[in-house]
Parts: sequence; C-alpha cells; structure tokens
Amino acid sequence: MNDSSLPAPLAKRLEGKVALITGAASGIGETTARLFVQHGAKVVIADIQDELGHSVCNEIGSDYVHCDVTSEIDVQNAVETTISKHGKLDIMFSNAGIADAKLDISILAFEHEDYKKVFDVNMYGAFLSAKHAAKVMIPAKKGSIIFTSSFASVCYGAMLPYAYAVSKHALVGLTKNLCVELGQYGIRVNCISPFGVATPLLRKGLGGIDQKTVEEFICTSANLKEAVLKASDVAEAALYLGGGDSKYVSGLNLVIDGGYSTTNVAIREQMKEYFG
Ligand SMILES: NC(=O)c1ccc[n+]([C@@H]2O[C@H](COP(=O)([O-])OP(=O)(O)OC[C@H]3O[C@@H](n4cnc5c(N)ncnc54)[C@H](O)[C@@H]3O)[C@@H](O)[C@H]2O)c1
Repeated sequence: MNDSSLPAPLAKRLEGKVALITGAASGIGETTARLFVQHGAKVVIADIQDELGHSVCNEIGSDYVHCDVTSEIDVQNAVETTISKHGKLDIMFSNAGIADAKLDISILAFEHEDYKKVFDVNMYGAFLSAKHAAKVMIPAKKGSIIFTSSFASVCYGAMLPYAYAVSKHALVGLTKNLCVELGQYGIRVNCISPFGVATPLLRKGLGGIDQKTVEEFICTSANLKEAVLKASDVAEAALYLGGGDSKYVSGLNLVIDGGYSTTNVAIREQMKEYFG
C-alpha cells in the first residue's frame, strides 16, 4: 500500500532510532514503515506475509523477519533479530491485527475458536510484542511501545464484531497497565485508535470491495466531513508517539476518528423518522 499522500518530511524526526513494526507487510504498518524510514529510522518489518514483506523491505531498504505474533518464539526472534542487526530497539509498534470473519454475528452463534483466533492475534500478540520489547528496553532505560487499537475501543454506539471490539478495548487496558509498570524505566506506552481506513483488512471485512467504495462508505458514516482518513494519518500518529515530540506522553489512547466516538446519531435519526 504505497500511500501517495505521505508528504516529504521537512526534518528527520527518527534519525538514529530503531523500530520494529508488526503487521507491516500491508496497510497501516506498511505505510508507517515507509514514513519511519523517510524520517531516518532503521526499520524491521515483522509479518506472516513473507513475499509482500520482503518486497516492501526491498523497496524501502528495511529488514524483514517472519513473525507470527501469536508465537512467543517468533516474537522473541523478531526482537533478537532487531538487536543483532541494529544493536537496540527504540520503538516497538505492535500493529498486527485481524478482524472477525463475519461482521454481524450474534453472541449466541459465536464459536470459541473464532473468538480465540482474533484474540490471539490482536491481544495476545500485542502482549508478547510488549513483553519482548520491554525485556530489551528496560536495561536501556528508554523506549516507546505503541499499539494499534481501534475506534472500536471507544465507540459504544456501533454494533461491531465481538472479538474485534473486545480485543481492541483490551489493548487500551494493556496500554494503561504497561504505562504504569514501565514508566519507572523511562519507557512510554501508548495506543492509537483509528476510524475506518480502506486497507486490505477493512476491504476484506466489508466483503472484498474496492478502496474507493470503502472510502465513500467511511466518509458517509463519518462525523468529520471533507476529509478522508488514510493510512498515512495513522502513520503520522505513530511517528509522533515514537519520536521525541511526545517525550512526556504515556498511557494515551490517541483516537483518530474525526469525533465519531463523541457522537450518537440515534436520537437525530429517530427524530428524522418521526418528524421528517
Ligand atoms: N483498517 C482499519 O479500518 C482499521 C481501523 C482501526 C484499527 N485498525 C487496526 O490496524 C492494524 C493494521 O491493520 P490494517 O488495517 O493495516 O490491515 P492489513 O490487513 O492491511 O494489515 C494487517 C497486517 O497484519 C498482519 N498479520 C495478521 N496476522 C498476523 C500475525 N498473526 N502475525 C503477524 N502479522 C500478522 C497481516 O499479514 C497484515 O500485513 C490492525 O491491528 C487493525 O485492527 C485498522
């Protein structure tokens, strides 16, 4: 996903930094990897889509490591690979995620395995990423851990898929708990909660539709008009949280939803229905 809306940086904000990004073969992670490299960071991409991951790395001059975030050995190996190549880890962007196979499944029809699959990647994978990042960041007494949560973590008015919504709420809890434990070592922990971005994840979730149609749908349901949320906007948030501009920011859930989660359109919609 070569997001052409990435502006050329005026100043390199991650010069000398080393970042490991999970789920960076595609979508938000990939766009963030591109932006981080533009800003002078050494980036290691960790994903399960090896071919795609390698091709992104070849393009931007990064390293690729196969890493299924649900496997502790894989995550440990990704961190160790980063350390052996670059000597340190400044930024762990735990971004890999999947969505429920079906959008509108009732709790009554939920199978344990389907729930577990989403939770394993979105929540346990993030937990492992933070654990192994912390192992090397604690002795260094510095570091920034960032998770990709979702507007699903703050939005109660929409009926979102169960496993996804719950896992993204849990990431906020993980962020806050870790922020408390790791603050004493100078490590900051934050998460980012975007509204819909037309990445492969969302396009697939909506039935395999094209990027333009997904963006039109998002814009129709969005609170903030005249703007389209892009992967690059989320990457800019990761850049802020990963770099020195946010040096005293920790425990934050940075919601990028154009105000969507502050609205509740139910009454307005009912008024329209009743009074025209
Ligand atoms: N696209 C959206 O609308 C949206 C909104 C809010 C949050 N998010 C979150 O953003 C993150 C990135 O998603 P995206 O939209 O860029 O989708 P994407 O499908 O383009 O990217 C997700 C990446 O994660 C990788 N991945 C999946 N399972 C993995 C595993 N077990 N181990 C390692 N990597 C794995 C995939 O191979 C893929 O490269 C996810 O956590 C997602 O929940 C997306």
